[in-house]
Amino acid sequence: MPSRDRILPAGQASDGEPPIAGKTLKIETKVMDNHSAEEALRITKAYHERTKHRFSAYAAGPEFLDWDDQPSPFRSFAGTEIIRLPLSPGLPEKPYSELFDPKKKNPPPSFDLASVSLLLEVSLGLSAWKSYPGARWSLRCNPSSGNLHPTEAYLIAPDLSGLQGGVYHYLSLDHVLERRNIPGLSWNGAWQTPGVIVALTSIYWREAWKYGERAFRYCQHDVGHALAAVRFASAALGWEATILDGWNDNTISRLTGTDRHQEFPDEEREAPEVLVWIGGRSTAPDRSLLVEAIDCGRWEGEASQMSPDHRRWTVIGEVDRATRDHSTPGRPLFSPTSRPPLPDIPSGVPSGQIFRQRRSAQRFDPNAEPLPKPAFLRILEALLPREGVPPFDILTWAPRIHPLLFVYKVEGLEPGCYLLARSQEVEESLVRSLSADFSTEEVQGVPPHIPLKLLRRGDTRNFVRNLCCRQAIASQSLFAVAMLSCFEDSLKEGPWWYRRLFWEAGVLGQSLYLEAEAAGVRGTGIGCFFDDELHSWLGFSTRDFQSLYHFTVGRPISDPRLETSPPYPSA
Ligand SMILES: Cc1cc2nc3c(=O)[nH]c(=O)nc-3n(C[C@H](O)[C@H](O)[C@H](O)COP(=O)(O)O)c2cc1C
Repeated sequence: MPSRDRILPAGQASDGEPPIAGKTLKIETKVMDNHSAEEALRITKAYHERTKHRFSAYAAGPEFLDWDDQPSPFRSFAGTEIIRLPLSPGLPEKPYSELFDPKKKNPPPSFDLASVSLLLEVSLGLSAWKSYPGARWSLRCNPSSGNLHPTEAYLIAPDLSGLQGGVYHYLSLDHVLERRNIPGLSWNGAWQTPGVIVALTSIYWREAWKYGERAFRYCQHDVGHALAAVRFASAALGWEATILDGWNDNTISRLTGTDRHQEFPDEEREAPEVLVWIGGRSTAPDRSLLVEAIDCGRWEGEASQMSPDHRRWTVIGEVDRATRDHSTPGRPLFSPTSRPPLPDIPSGVPSGQIFRQRRSAQRFDPNAEPLPKPAFLRILEALLPREGVPPFDILTWAPRIHPLLFVYKVEGLEPGCYLLARSQEVEESLVRSLSADFSTEEVQGVPPHIPLKLLRRGDTRNFVRNLCCRQAIASQSLFAVAMLSCFEDSLKEGPWWYRRLFWEAGVLGQSLYLEAEAAGVRGTGIGCFFDDELHSWLGFSTRDFQSLYHFTVGRPISDPRLETSPPYPSA
């Protein structure tokens, strides 16, 4: 296992996973095959089991990293018109704390080249370059397992001031748009009210190059982080944003051109993930008019090749097909129980600064001061959905991810394992699934609308460190988190929920990252953990609840050997 402070070339984070090697084979991402529902469910569950890390064996991955095949973290399209986007250093100025107060909404700016550019800049744009003798790598506003960034983004827009309507690929490396489709005449008629669509796709190979079979999970986490990053940025601009439920994967492929396989290297196709409508909640564009206008429009460009050679991880193609969302009737928008507004954050730090300064901590100070209780409770409060409050209002469903908190150093809280069930109904069934070693106690000095329960007292640092692939960041922090999902019940509704559970976990992760920054500490997502070792420690005898993502928050120690430079030359 590489030691954490060994700097990997080209910005590769070790992320706790074992070393890797590769042979040249094909990766399979054929989509849209209709499995029987039972078969799709069986494949999805089998994938989940098979890609668990265990004390006895890690999920299947390459034996060593084949650096010659390291995929480029950036995709571009040759033969497209390039639209250079203006940079807006220091914006948005809206204080981060005001994003959560519906009463402090600014009048939304009009959708034009500058405002859409800012949306992309502070959600999916570069936020820094890091260098170390012999290595230089970019970092973005959105995090990504291994810093591999399998998520690609497209802007789908009507005619805007400064931008002709069409489908654009966003290339964060240069903060430019590459025009992929010049739509037919009926295009503008499809947009009932001002707004744009941001589409997300995944290139599995980028993640699988390093993580092998488990990579599909990380791609979905990254989609969740990207969704939340777009939601936070749109909120800072005063816009609403919600995922377009009911627009199935076929539609997403047609709108993004990712079904035009002839324009993509076989092994580096993009899998459609999700569309985000940024505009009035109930006035999404007319889907069939959009598709019609695109179909009679003109596509341009050929996708760049990222690696000379590839390795096939067949199970990724299988779970990709099994978790496709073919039908998805529109689901009624979930309306959260009303809760008091989020307590304010003393510092009026601008949201743009918080978005750009977000980093994953590489190391924590094990002797750090405890986290003040109000700061801890604020971080927990931000994980509870509220009507019209980012980031959870981008999702259309009731909470299915429930944090288990390992508290190490929080003022006024005993060290121990706590549960924050984000919905009342789930708390009961979750607690029933725990072994007798756990009980539920109310926690003194916690407002009643924060459903925090103490499950077990004690110092869990060693246990959590071992659990998270023996990573020190999981125990040298102030607290750590395991995100328990309503696994069986969700999958019963459809195997595509497998993706959505990871998206929701990614949204929680993004909230934790930004709240940690706002509280003056730092977070790190943790994808490498031993799944069933936690489940058996909790006493789970079924798969009703499965942990999908871990997280840790602490006081960072920065690495003096690393140099940081601005994301864009003129920024
Ligand atoms: C899904 C996911 C899983 C991650 N897992 C780990 C991990 O196990 N260990 C770790 O040190 N960092 C982990 N990270 C942090 C990434 O290494 C980090 O996001 C990446 O290097 C980019 O750096 P940044 O977050 O500072 O932009 C993870 C991040 C994500 C989004």
